[in-house]
Amino acid sequence: MASPFYITTPIYYVNARPHLGHAYTTIAADVIRRFHAMTSDRTYFLTGTDEHGDKIVRAAKKENRTTREYVDQISGLFKQLWPELNISNDDFIRTTDPAHMAVVETILQRIYDAGDIYFSSYEGLYCFGCERFYTERELVDGCCPDHQTPPETIRESNYFFKMSRYQQWLIDHILQHPDFIRPERYRNEVLAFLRDPLEDLCISRPKSRIKWGITLPFDPDYVTYVWFDALLNYVSALGYPDGELFKTFWPVAQHIVAKDILKPHGIYWPIMLKAAGIPVYQHLNVHGYWNVDQSKMSKSIGNVVEPLEMKNIYGLDAFRFFLMRDMVFGLDSSFNEEALIQRINADLANDLGNLFSRVLAMAHKYFEGVVPEPDPDTARTMDLGLESHARTAVAAYTAGMTEFAFHKGLAAVWEFITHMNKYVDVTAPWLLAKNKAARKELETVLYNLLEGLRIISVLIYPVMPETAATMQKHLGLSGDDDFYKLDRFSAWGGLKTRVKLRKAISLFPRIDPEKKQPQPMETTASQKMDPPIKPEITIDDFARIDLRVATVVSAQAVPRAKKLLELEVDLGEKRTIVSGIAGSYAPEDLVGKQVIVVANLKPAKLMGVLSRGMLVAATDEAGVTVATLDKSVTPGTPLR
Ligand code: MSP
Repeated sequence: MASPFYITTPIYYVNARPHLGHAYTTIAADVIRRFHAMTSDRTYFLTGTDEHGDKIVRAAKKENRTTREYVDQISGLFKQLWPELNISNDDFIRTTDPAHMAVVETILQRIYDAGDIYFSSYEGLYCFGCERFYTERELVDGCCPDHQTPPETIRESNYFFKMSRYQQWLIDHILQHPDFIRPERYRNEVLAFLRDPLEDLCISRPKSRIKWGITLPFDPDYVTYVWFDALLNYVSALGYPDGELFKTFWPVAQHIVAKDILKPHGIYWPIMLKAAGIPVYQHLNVHGYWNVDQSKMSKSIGNVVEPLEMKNIYGLDAFRFFLMRDMVFGLDSSFNEEALIQRINADLANDLGNLFSRVLAMAHKYFEGVVPEPDPDTARTMDLGLESHARTAVAAYTAGMTEFAFHKGLAAVWEFITHMNKYVDVTAPWLLAKNKAARKELETVLYNLLEGLRIISVLIYPVMPETAATMQKHLGLSGDDDFYKLDRFSAWGGLKTRVKLRKAISLFPRIDPEKKQPQPMETTASQKMDPPIKPEITIDDFARIDLRVATVVSAQAVPRAKKLLELEVDLGEKRTIVSGIAGSYAPEDLVGKQVIVVANLKPAKLMGVLSRGMLVAATDEAGVTVATLDKSVTPGTPLR
């Protein structure tokens, strides 16, 4: 069993509502936790809120609230958001929790007793927005680089932490542990910063200026600087110093942060740990910033992206997938909805969704919805490299995910999906099905496709847990709590034969870029809700609808419309009808079937094809099912 795994997000300030940036980091942490849960039974995932400091007090005042009320409310917004985004955190820490505050006091006292904290008077340039002193060198045109406001000169007596004492130790540690801060660009940034002498860190604020904080255990007139308090959450949440969680998980700690807080995590934090006699964390994983349409996300520009809104429009798994696939971990990315729609339609609806529904539909058509037994003799000839592509994909996926290169991990899965789609085209199961002598080949091909889908369903689990579970269920697997364990699927051929499959389903609705809404025909399992019964009508109203029995004469896909089939039907006369059922039926599934048609529906053009009538069908979580009759009837017979 793999070693334990501990991942943390930054604890977010409670002076603003959660937005895309917070959602990204937290989803990334969730993805990496789920990825490690594939191989380890012991994972721990921590997130929470950072609630002390002047910035919070000012935000509360602005809202005419007491600080306590305000922090409770905003912390609550974060806490409630995470289950909506399927975040699987084990704990949610608040820096106002008494247990956390007690740990901060213990560690401060320890460092103080060791002689690494001293009292001194200091005059410096202070930015109230950042709650820290700046050196002249750090200012840009005399202003704070983050807030673009000039800092104020303040003179105060304060407590200082002797960071300078540990500078060489930190440089050596980073040089000896090349992965300590990753990706490399951020490691280099920290090393560059450490080329200049490190100033000692002011770790107190006088209560005459601010009371909302943790009182220093060795001086009641001061509270703790918010960063010295906040960083300690990573150990306090584990029950430092004696907690079982601390013993298990601290030695394997990994943090995720964005580049904005590289310095506190890359410099203050390891030095604090060293001074407190606590081993340092294993890895700091740093990602870039999400901008929106090339600009910084900001309330004043009005371009703040709300994660819940994205979930409601596009579906949660699609949103999670986009964030993980589009950002190169470490670099900045620009969010825009057009790119999101493009990804959903291309990667999810087309590549994965179509493959899934096509394969399931074929398994239903050719094997009555039961996983066929692959024939050992044809297995080799019909493999066409598929198994080896699967193995390559798993290896590349694992390598990418392990180093937080989510985009690479997902690209490896999609490469395999492309091979699967090619395999369908090359083996052409619909042709094998026409030839009785090729039955064994057909069994092997369908088995291989279903097995490939099973592997895909596990690989996508960390990023799209709901879709993974839905795929599993439709593949006749239990979708039980542990289906994603890597040892269960690493060997090709794990899919049990003779198992009943569920009906094909459309996993991802295609998004119409004009309307930015999923197309109405398609319903995902998680979005489905039965509409209420419509208002009453009379028998005469019903008689106005001309329902007829029709026989499907031929069927073909409509080019460029993944969901549409063009059918020629016989209802006493020949008609063309376009129907949005391609997600659930292959054209050959329908030929010869008797269906029910609304014969007097006003004709409409769909993707350039004139449709005269409509097929009656039911849509549920398993996909679309066309209505048929249980006995053969003369085409054109009306239904009453
Ligand atoms: N409270 C501190 C962190 C203390 S950790 C001991 C803090 N809070 S914050 O609310 O400002 O959160 C900053 C973090 O939110 C970033 O490091 C990143 O994880 C996330 N993001 C906020 N905006 C972001 C983007 N626009 N893009 C990507 N992530 C961003 O700093």
